[in-house]
Amino acid sequence: MRRAGLVVADALDAVREAAKPGVSGLELDEVAESVIRAQGAVPSFKGYFGYPGSICLSVNETVIHGIPDERVLHRGDIVSVDCGAVLDGWHGDSAITFPIGPVSDIAARLMAATEAGLWAGIRAMALGHHVGDIGRAVTAEVGRHDPKFGVVRDYVGHGIGQAMHLDPDVPNFPTRRPGPRLVPWCTLAIEPMIVEGSIDLDPQPDGWTVLTADRGLAAHFEHTVVRTTDGVWALTARDGGAAMLRELGLPEPPNPTL
Ligand code: MF3
Ligand code: CO
Repeated sequence: MRRAGLVVADALDAVREAAKPGVSGLELDEVAESVIRAQGAVPSFKGYFGYPGSICLSVNETVIHGIPDERVLHRGDIVSVDCGAVLDGWHGDSAITFPIGPVSDIAARLMAATEAGLWAGIRAMALGHHVGDIGRAVTAEVGRHDPKFGVVRDYVGHGIGQAMHLDPDVPNFPTRRPGPRLVPWCTLAIEPMIVEGSIDLDPQPDGWTVLTADRGLAAHFEHTVVRTTDGVWALTARDGGAAMLRELGLPEPPNPTL
């Protein structure tokens, strides 16, 4: 799973590097697919329930599952890119949101809150006892950034391994039940989707694209993470999460250079 995770990290780095005003979604999809295939991996999104792309490209008010097409990026956009790869039967799944040139203050704060929410969830996966501890931590962290930001409830993270989507659900919000126990070597995709306004969503007739109902901005960050015997290892982070884990006062991943 670490090797699959690094393929996804490479693909997302390449997409971020290529993303400029005037570049189309289809071009970015090709960048991701070629990076993935060059390493002997396969884009896990492609053909998943008929999904046409190797990435999901969700711009501004698109929360998730935007389909790459001829439309181009513009200065001031915030762009969420979600990508998955399978290598020797094992999956990696990760998402980032980044700006195209200068963006509004609220857009920058939304991205920062979402990424911080992800790492708060990762911290809870290291220190917590149940899956439910993750969502409580994500929501608390996002609320510290801006109590007006909304944590999407209609979509959640998931178990991952020899399939992209496995049990259990990994909500980004507090739940009544504690959820399954967090045990060493459990592997989860933690993926907060955060909106600037209402959490009501507006799924589109293409069957994939999900917009905010109020057309407010959305951001999405995701890592595939394994709980180890004494902490966590962010499998889709190039450094395994070492830098952030250090900042959070958590044990280093097994081998950051692996
Ligand atoms: N990447 C999404 C997730 O994080 C799944 C996308 S499925 C696709 O769970 F078909 F839209 F690609
Ligand atoms: Co996922």
